[in-house]
Amino acid sequence: MRRRSAGTVPRQARTRLIDMRIDIVSLFPGMLETPLSESIPGRIREQGLVEIHLHDLRQWGLGRHRSVDDAPYGGGAGMVMRPEPVAAALDALWRPGATRILLDPTGEPFRQARAADLARRDHLILVCPRYEGVDERIRDLVDLELSIGDYVLTGGELAALVVVDAVIRLLPGAIDGASTTEESFAEGLLEYPQFTRPAVFRGEGVPEVLVSGNHAAVRRWRLAASLRRTLERRPDLLEERTFSPEERRLLDELKASSNDTSETSPGTTETPGNPSETPGG
Ligand SMILES: C[S@@+](CC[C@H](N)C(=O)[O-])C[C@H]1O[C@@H](n2cnc3c(N)ncnc32)[C@H](O)[C@@H]1O
Repeated sequence: MRRRSAGTVPRQARTRLIDMRIDIVSLFPGMLETPLSESIPGRIREQGLVEIHLHDLRQWGLGRHRSVDDAPYGGGAGMVMRPEPVAAALDALWRPGATRILLDPTGEPFRQARAADLARRDHLILVCPRYEGVDERIRDLVDLELSIGDYVLTGGELAALVVVDAVIRLLPGAIDGASTTEESFAEGLLEYPQFTRPAVFRGEGVPEVLVSGNHAAVRRWRLAASLRRTLERRPDLLEERTFSPEERRLLDELKASSNDTSETSPGTTETPGNPSETPGG
């Protein structure tokens, strides 16, 4: 499939050139249609940036009853999805270059970097198991196993929706580029606090710097606020990241100020920069 840069292609041409194809195999394709047709996903599809095909696994089911599951060898609770229908679906849908993805709670934790990686691929095939999951031998037939978090869902459909939603919004031209480059996880940090009107809400104002019109100061405040929020809420993200000299300096200041604060006033934290710029202060 051909790739093109977004924003330079006239709308008419866009509806003929598809950037990405996604096939989703499920026993309950009806669960997927509406979320992928509404709002931004629906618009992205209408724009022709992605073509999404939903497939009922039952069509590859076995025998007169189109059976797809059986009892686990060794006994135990629940049913296991047989490998033949899933393998037949993968064989039917696979084309050279396609990435086959199994949704599975034991898979790779799905993160923004993986979403960005998948958004650069031409063809994704997602398999949504149910019951106790799919026969182990299917793992050899997929390229990637993804988990959307440390909890267990009743089936892979919601997980597939999460993955597809996160991926297609990153397709060039899907949404305003700045929205996807200045957001949580894009740069390995959480996003800075956002404010809109009214200027005072239930007695709480907005940081003065944000209404100052000083773009350089706004940028600095946001960077510091982003670092601070990440330090407070997701310090694990900072351990994996490299920093620019400016970020390193701000982070050192934040750590120093939080040490000072905890020594003098337990339970409170300082906001980066001028205290008058404190969010909500
Ligand atoms: C009830 S779960 C099976 C759980 C499995 N027996 C286990 O303990 O790992 C049924 C299916 O839901 C999907 N699923 C459940 N939790 C998930 C998660 N956190 N991420 C991705 N898929 C999930 C998977 O496709 C899974 O095979």
